Amino acid sequence: MPDNSLEWHKILEIDDNLTEGFVTDFYFKSKKYLCFYFEGEFHVVHEKCPHNGAKLSLSGFNPMNKTITCPLHRYCFDILSGKLLSGADACHLEKLPVRIHQGKLYLGTPRPWWKF
Ligand code: FES
Repeated sequence: MPDNSLEWHKILEIDDNLTEGFVTDFYFKSKKYLCFYFEGEFHVVHEKCPHNGAKLSLSGFNPMNKTITCPLHRYCFDILSGKLLSGADACHLEKLPVRIHQGKLYLGTPRPWWKF
């Protein structure tokens, strides 16, 4: 049964040569997101750090252990789960829903109430 609580937006064409550790960024409705490909799945998170809103720089991305470290206070997050691995305050990366359809990656966003 399809999930009618989300609407889906195409964010990128999937390259046939996609490899483990692929990373890119994209804008959606004026906000920037980071997109990672690990273990056969895409993982999309906001570019803003959940701690205090700094930009999660791709320079803090570690493909070997699948983590990203914020450049401001050095909080480190697991990309696959979104969990905080090191840092003082309780926070985590919010992973956004994605799905693949006909070679394209779609981002799911809450459907506005007026579209039900
Ligand atoms: S703003 Fe990212 S760790 Fe503080």
